Amino acid sequence: MIDELRFLTDDDVRYIAEESGTPVFIYSQRTLEEQAQKALEMPNAFGLTVRYAMKANPNASILKILDMQGLHIDASSGFEVERAVKAGISPEKILLTSQQLPDNLYEDFLNKVDINLTSLEQIRKYGNCFSGTDVFGRDNKISIRVNPGLGSGGTNRTNVGGPSSSFGIWYENFEDALSLIQDYEFDVKRLHTHIGSGSDHKVWEKVALMSLEHAKRLVELGHPLEILNLGGGYKVGRMADEESINLEESGNMVKKAFERFYDETGVKLRLEIEPGTFLVANAGSLVTRINDIVKTSDYTFVKTDTGMTEVTRPSLYGAQHPLVVVPKEKRFDRFTKDYVVVGHCCESGDILTPEKGNPEKLNTRTLGETKIGDLLVVEGVGAYCSSMSTKNYNSFPEAAEVLIDKNNVAHIVRKRQTLKQILENEVVPLFLS
Ligand SMILES: Cc1ncc(COP(=O)(O)O)c(C=O)c1O
Repeated sequence: MIDELRFLTDDDVRYIAEESGTPVFIYSQRTLEEQAQKALEMPNAFGLTVRYAMKANPNASILKILDMQGLHIDASSGFEVERAVKAGISPEKILLTSQQLPDNLYEDFLNKVDINLTSLEQIRKYGNCFSGTDVFGRDNKISIRVNPGLGSGGTNRTNVGGPSSSFGIWYENFEDALSLIQDYEFDVKRLHTHIGSGSDHKVWEKVALMSLEHAKRLVELGHPLEILNLGGGYKVGRMADEESINLEESGNMVKKAFERFYDETGVKLRLEIEPGTFLVANAGSLVTRINDIVKTSDYTFVKTDTGMTEVTRPSLYGAQHPLVVVPKEKRFDRFTKDYVVVGHCCESGDILTPEKGNPEKLNTRTLGETKIGDLLVVEGVGAYCSSMSTKNYNSFPEAAEVLIDKNNVAHIVRKRQTLKQILENEVVPLFLS
C-alpha cells in the first residue's frame, strides 16, 4: 500500500508548486479547527483549558486560528511570548514554561503572563525579582513544574520525564521546593507536568495520578491550588499504521481521578492540557520537487529539493512521514517502486526514509514510480518541521508557507526567504574588506 495525500488533491499540489515554487509548506485551516474542537471536547470534571504548545509551529496565522477557537498558549521562551503577543494573543492567555527564564523577566513579563517555574533556581530567580521592596500589586500565586520521576516519549529524545531529564523540579526535591516557596511567601495555584512527546497514554494516565498526590500535598499545606496542567505529548499517527491517542478515553480516566480528588480534599481542580502535535501535525503538508534520481548497486535514491532544512524529524529521530509522488503531468500508467528518499543537504544523514526509530539506517519506501521533475508531498509536517529544522544549512533559504482557508483559498503566510535576508546580520570586519 502506498501513502495518500491528506487534504490536498494532485491538482492542488501542481497548482501550488507552480504558484509558490517548492519547497512550500501548506496548512489546512479546516484540519486545525477540527483538531482544536476535538481537544476542547476532552472530558473533564471541573473545567478545561487547552493551551497550544506554540513551539510546534509558531506561524502567526496558526496562532490566530487556534486563538479564535478559544485556545490559550504554552510558550517555551520569552521570545515565543513576544511572538504570540505580536500575533495578537492577549498576554493573560499565555503560560511561559521555559528551560531559561528571560533576562528581562522583571521588566517585561512579571504580572503580564503566567510563569511556570521549572527548577529550584527558577524559584529563587523569580523570588529574588521581588526582594528588597516595592513590587506593588505583586502576584503571589505561582505555577511549578514537577518531573514526576517517570517519562514517556515516542523516542528517547522526546522523553522529558524521569532521571535522564532536566525538565521540571525533580520529585525528590519537591519538599525543598515547598520550603523555598514558603520562604518567598508564594502560593502555588498551578501544578504542571509534561513527560514527553508521543507518550504512551498509560504512562501519561499514571503520571496524572502521581501528580494528584503532589497536588494533595499542596492542598494540605494550604496552597490555593486551582489548576493541574498535564502537559502535551498526545500521540498522533502520521503513518497509516501508527496509532493516535483516544483523548476521550484518557480524559474520562483523568476526570474520575479529579472527582475523587474533590471528594478527598474539597478542591475542584481545573484541567489544563497543552498539545502541540495533536493540533497541528496532520494539518501540514510539504510540497517538494524531485530533482534527481541516482542508482547504486543496492538502492534507487530519489533526491528532493527539501530535507533536513524543512523536515529534520527523520534524521533526528528516525521519524516516519508519509510520502506521496504527484507526477508533474497526469499519468495513468502508475506502477510502484521502492526508493530511498533523500534531502538536498551535503549530509549523508539527510534522509526522509530512515528505518523507523533509527536515523542511522536507510530504508526504502514504496512510492508511485517517479521521474525527475515530479512533485513529492511530505505529509504530517505541521508540527516540529518548519519550527525545528536546520534552516539555512548549505545556505538554502527558509521555505514559503501557505494557508488554505475553509473556502479552499490559498494565502501566503510566510514568504520564501532570500539570500539577502540570510546574509543580513553577517558583518565583515574592516581588516578583511
Ligand atoms: C512543556 C511542554 N508542553 C507541551 C508540549 C507539546 O508536546 P506535543 O507537541 O508532543 O503535544 C511540549 C513539547 O515539547 C512541552 O515541552
